[in-house]
Amino acid sequence: MSFPTYEQIDYSYRDPEAVKKVFAEAYANGLEATSEGRVATYIPELSKADPSAFGLFGWKKDGETLSFGDTTTRFTIQSISKVINLAVALKYIGFRDVFSHVLMEPSGDEFNSIIKLDTVNSLPFNPLINTGAIEIVSLLEPLFSFEELLDLARSFCMDNEITLNEAVYRSEAETGDRNRAIAYLLKSKGVMKGDPDRITDLYFRMCSLNVSARSLAGLGLVLACDGSNPFTGKHLVSPGYIRVIKSIMFTCGLYNESGSFGVKVGLPAKSGVGGGITCAVKGPMGIGLYGPALDGKGNSVAGIRALEHLSHRLRLHVFAYE
Ligand code: DON
Repeated sequence: MSFPTYEQIDYSYRDPEAVKKVFAEAYANGLEATSEGRVATYIPELSKADPSAFGLFGWKKDGETLSFGDTTTRFTIQSISKVINLAVALKYIGFRDVFSHVLMEPSGDEFNSIIKLDTVNSLPFNPLINTGAIEIVSLLEPLFSFEELLDLARSFCMDNEITLNEAVYRSEAETGDRNRAIAYLLKSKGVMKGDPDRITDLYFRMCSLNVSARSLAGLGLVLACDGSNPFTGKHLVSPGYIRVIKSIMFTCGLYNESGSFGVKVGLPAKSGVGGGITCAVKGPMGIGLYGPALDGKGNSVAGIRALEHLSHRLRLHVFAYE
């Protein structure tokens, strides 16, 4: 991945046609990068994805959309559901209780690492890695049915067509022993209450929601609009909680690639091994990406490449200078 020099920044991209052109370039860059990644295989059903697929969707508050490539293809949300689960937990359980169960520190480890939980701290490092996400689901499980969480996911993504992908759910449930191990370890430490099998089952279901690049742009747009649906005006989560969520997405959203992503792209984003990325940008605009060819850290190579281009050319980095 090339690192942009400041001299390359183009200050002229302000009008809608120029923005469209930058999106087209970002799409082309992403598409080219698909050959550099590999689809996830540790959940057998995910290995069926087309590694050359790529979709980029931008959705602005005024309703304008920018759609390139595979933006209607359905794929599973995977770890991006961790953002929705965190939002629901903050709204219904509150900041103090949520963060008495998980920390808010980047772990620097792989998404499904168990090591720090066992050797460094009995509280998971953050809600966007598996240990923390499973702990968050343990807080939701006594309060919400899967159907209720599915409805909330539809609201957050502004997409009523989201359904459970049964095949992926079964595939992950059959092979998800590492996540069950995390749940049992949390329980053994007294950090998690409840039944580890029921909790991981709900976690697997939330990972198996069928979304599209458009749905992930919807989620990004709600985050960019401080927790409101800009088309109905409905408040889903308070702006204060959205600030918490976006801060943790910025520092932890791409696991052990969050640091370099922060430098190169500089946006709150969350990835999933299904190939999705959601991203919230100023404007406000939501960006959803789908590229199932992943890098070694489990993040979409095409998605990152396209976001790098968008951030650079549209000056979207949260620390971009005027
Ligand atoms: O916990 C798992 O293994 C998956 N269902 C979700 C992981 C995931 O998406 C990691 N993201 N890059």
